[in-house]
Parts: sequence; structure tokens; C-alpha cells
Amino acid sequence: MTALTLSTSAAPGLRADAIVIGVAKGAKGPVVAPGAEAVDKAYDGRLAGVLETLGASGAEGEVTKLPAPSGLKAPLVVAVGLGAEPEKDSAFDPEALRKAAGVAARALTGAKKAAFVLPLGDAADVGAVAEGVLLGAYSFTAYKGSAPSESAAKAKNGKAPLAEAVLLGGKPRDAAYKAALARATAVAEELNRARDLINMPPNDLNPESFAAIVQTAGKEHGLKVQVLDVKALEKGGYGGILGVGAGSASGPRLVKLSYTSSKAKKHLALVGKGITYDSGGISLKPAGHNETMKCDMSGAAAVFAAVVSAARLGLEVNVTGWLALAENMPSGSATRPGDVLRMYSGKTVEVLNTDAEGRLVLADALWAASAEKPDAIVDVATLTGAMMLALGSRTFGIMANDDSFRTAVHEAAEEVGEPAWPMPLPEHLRKGMDSPTADIANMGERLGGGLVAGLFLREFVGEGIPWAHLDIAGPAFNDGGPFGYTPKGGTGSAVRTLVRLAELTASGDLG
Ligand code: BES
Ligand code: MN
Ligand code: ZN
Repeated sequence: MTALTLSTSAAPGLRADAIVIGVAKGAKGPVVAPGAEAVDKAYDGRLAGVLETLGASGAEGEVTKLPAPSGLKAPLVVAVGLGAEPEKDSAFDPEALRKAAGVAARALTGAKKAAFVLPLGDAADVGAVAEGVLLGAYSFTAYKGSAPSESAAKAKNGKAPLAEAVLLGGKPRDAAYKAALARATAVAEELNRARDLINMPPNDLNPESFAAIVQTAGKEHGLKVQVLDVKALEKGGYGGILGVGAGSASGPRLVKLSYTSSKAKKHLALVGKGITYDSGGISLKPAGHNETMKCDMSGAAAVFAAVVSAARLGLEVNVTGWLALAENMPSGSATRPGDVLRMYSGKTVEVLNTDAEGRLVLADALWAASAEKPDAIVDVATLTGAMMLALGSRTFGIMANDDSFRTAVHEAAEEVGEPAWPMPLPEHLRKGMDSPTADIANMGERLGGGLVAGLFLREFVGEGIPWAHLDIAGPAFNDGGPFGYTPKGGTGSAVRTLVRLAELTASGDLG
């Protein structure tokens, strides 16, 4: 990953491949953002005019590269758009800084060292820029080149991510700034690791290898990891996870990953859908709907990253991650539409569609999480295509059994720059899941399918525990081109929201 440092050096004297500055959209054209005064001076104070001549407006996502004047030691200036100039006496939105830093980091692929002089008002801004750089510079190259090593990939592609970024204008000796940088680095590293897992092809990432990766990380960070394999799942009666994994040559797992703090007063449980490949099972997905279904473990990857981040940050809260891992495949041993599963909670479920598998594995994990009586449970899942139809590909839906808890989760998401939206759990949709044979069916009305799935999950949450469900089917995987600090492929959606929720639980400010 890109190496990141804070420096008090002045931009003109710094040896680097490029200097990154911000441009905002002013009332009368582009405006050079605060922090870049010395760079502007090197252009004799005409930088805004030069940028306008080059067609820059300061719009978000815009990149303008220009040769540096002789007063600068770096040969290149990269001007990134920050969007509308804030009103007098107010600061730039941290998310605008995060996106601009990400855009710049991507534009600097192949460069060794870049200096960033973006408008940094406070320590939180430093955190935002640091996250933007580290997340924007990400690329997944493990499978490029003749050998699965980074150097082979570089040789083949000729471009490696930006190697080193220096943030100017921060306060390297200030404790708050140092903490912001350390937090951003830990979270971005774990988030990028989640992206790696999501991008990993399903012939290499299966429930068993995923569990082994968690075990290795657990050792590294002093976390307790318990893996329930098929035998243990059978003994425990985890009919949902077993039913979904029944068709695969690679058996399912339930992984429990625990971070405990001696100073904890609260316990947050996180549950992730970890379908390492979703073919649909016997209700097979048609061609065109399964090419990116390796991403169906994005919820589990997000939970994994969040628990490790909580440990690295030493948060004063207990966080338990539950990863419900299975591969949904058709075969002679697969669950059939019409089969009835006896779930871990004791309820029976008639499987009408084997492609509605996420709710089955989550139901068992939610019930297992509930048994510990945590203060709150949040699950994360690429659960329904319906949620994508409702909210598009960048926004996740939030459902909950408690309105104020849902609002708190939504606010946490907004705070970290993750687009999210509250969704209802309309009671009338419950009866669509009535089954003549079992306690409930795994499918209901087609319309409002994301909400139906949420209602199904709610039945497996222990009495009285605040619970929220994040359906990240839209934002988990980016099929289009990169934007802001979001690459193509696995995005790491929900990781930053979960980390924030752990922080808020630690400080007693959640809900
Ligand atoms: N993993 C899919 C949902 C999904 C779709 C995630 C597209 C990401 C992108 C899930 O398991 C699924 O297949 N859901 C079905 C449920 C239906 C059969 C009730 C769906 O949404 O079509
Ligand atoms: Mn499915
Ligand atoms: Zn799925």
C-alpha cells in the first residue's frame, strides 16, 4: 500500500514527481483551494487563470495536469476538483476532500512520490485525505502477470500504485493529527484487504480458505477465532448454513471472530453474508447474472475488516464478527426448491427458491449472535437485486427493528461518507412468506423484495436486541469505471460505517 506521512515542508522545495492541489468551483470560475498559496505564487499568482484556460472548472472528479514552473522542485502539478467553494468561514466537506484525494491518487498511478497540498482545516480533514489517498491508490493485481506476485504484475502492466504520499499542511507532532493518520491507515489497510478478498476468484476463495485467512489474521491481531466446520454445524443444528452449502464440493463454515477490550462496557455483534460464489443453486441464475457473484461474500469481508480495525485501533468495546460462509452451487446433494430446513433457531423454512440463500445463512448467524445478548447487532449482506433496483449501485439500504437505531446507523454512514438510505419493514409483506408446510418460506412477494428479505431476517433476531440490516447489493461491487476513491470491482462497502459504529458503541453514543 501507498506509504503516507505528514510533513511541515513547504511545497516548492519538496522533491516529488508531482504536487497535488485542490481547485474549487467559485462563482466566477475555478478557485485555487487554500493550502496551495505557495504553488500559486510559483505561477506568479495566475494559477486560477491558467486552470481556467485549460478548461478546469473545479468540479468534483476533475483532474487537470500542468507542467510546474521553475520555482517548484516537482515537475508536475495535478489539480483536482473539490466541487463548489464553501461559503465564507466554512470548510470543505471531508467527503469532497476524500474523493479528490482518491481521484488524484488514481491519476498518479505509476508515480513514486507525490506531495498533497489540499485544504486541511483540522485533524478530521487529514484523516479524510489520508483515506482518500490510500483507498484511491488501490489496485488488484495479484492475478496479473506470469506469476502471482506484485512484481510480475508490475512488469506486465508497467504501472504500480502511487508509492509514497506526503501530506503537507498537517501538524505531524499534534496528537490529534497523528491519531487521525493512524486511524485512516489502519482502516484503509483493512478495507483494502476486504477488497482483495472480494476480488479474489471463487476458485481460490471458498469457505475453507476464507476461514483459514481469518484464522491467520486473528493470530496476527490477538483475536479469538472459532471455526465451525460441517461436522460442528451438523452437531449444532445450523440447518440454514448447511442447507445453502449442501451442493458445494467446498463445505460451509461459520466463523466467529472476537475482539475484546478489558475496558469494554458494551458489546457489538456484526454478522456478514459470506457466499463465496452464488450460482443460485438449483434455482440457477441465468447467464449475465452470475459473472460477478464472487462478490456475494462482501458482507463477511466487511465484518472481518471492521473487527480487525477495531482491534488495531484498540477500541474500548467488545466486537464479535460472525461470518456465515458457504458456496451456493447446484448438484445432486444441493438443497432443492421444496426442501424444508430446520434452522439453528428451531424454526423451519421451506426453501422455495435456492437463490434466496443469503437470508438462510444469515438467519443462523443472527440467532447465534443473539444468544450472547449483545447490545446491538448489525448485519451486512449483498442480499437482494431489489435493493439495487430501489437505490441504485452506490447506496445501501438500512432496515432495522428499531427506528432510532436505524437513524443512528444512517447517521454513522453519512458521517464516514458512505451513501445509505433508510428502508421500511412493512408488516403486510410478512404474510407473503407464509408456508403451508413450514413456519416460513424463504421467499414472499416479488415487489419490495429487499424489504421481504429484511422481514425474514428479523424473525431470527433475539427478542429485545436492537438490530440493523445493511443491504449492500448495489455498492459492494463496482461494475463500472472507478470514481472518487472507489475502484472497479470490490469496493469495501460498509467497512467504514461498521468501524464508526464500533467507535460510537465504545463511547456510548450509539442509538
Ligand atoms: N446475491 C444475490 C443478490 C445480488 C444480486 C447481489 C445482484 C448483488 C448483485 C442474492 O442471493 C439473490 O440471488 N437474491 C435474489 C432473491 C430472490 C430469489 C428472492 C434476488 O434478489 O433476485
Ligand atoms: Mn442468490
Ligand atoms: Zn446471494
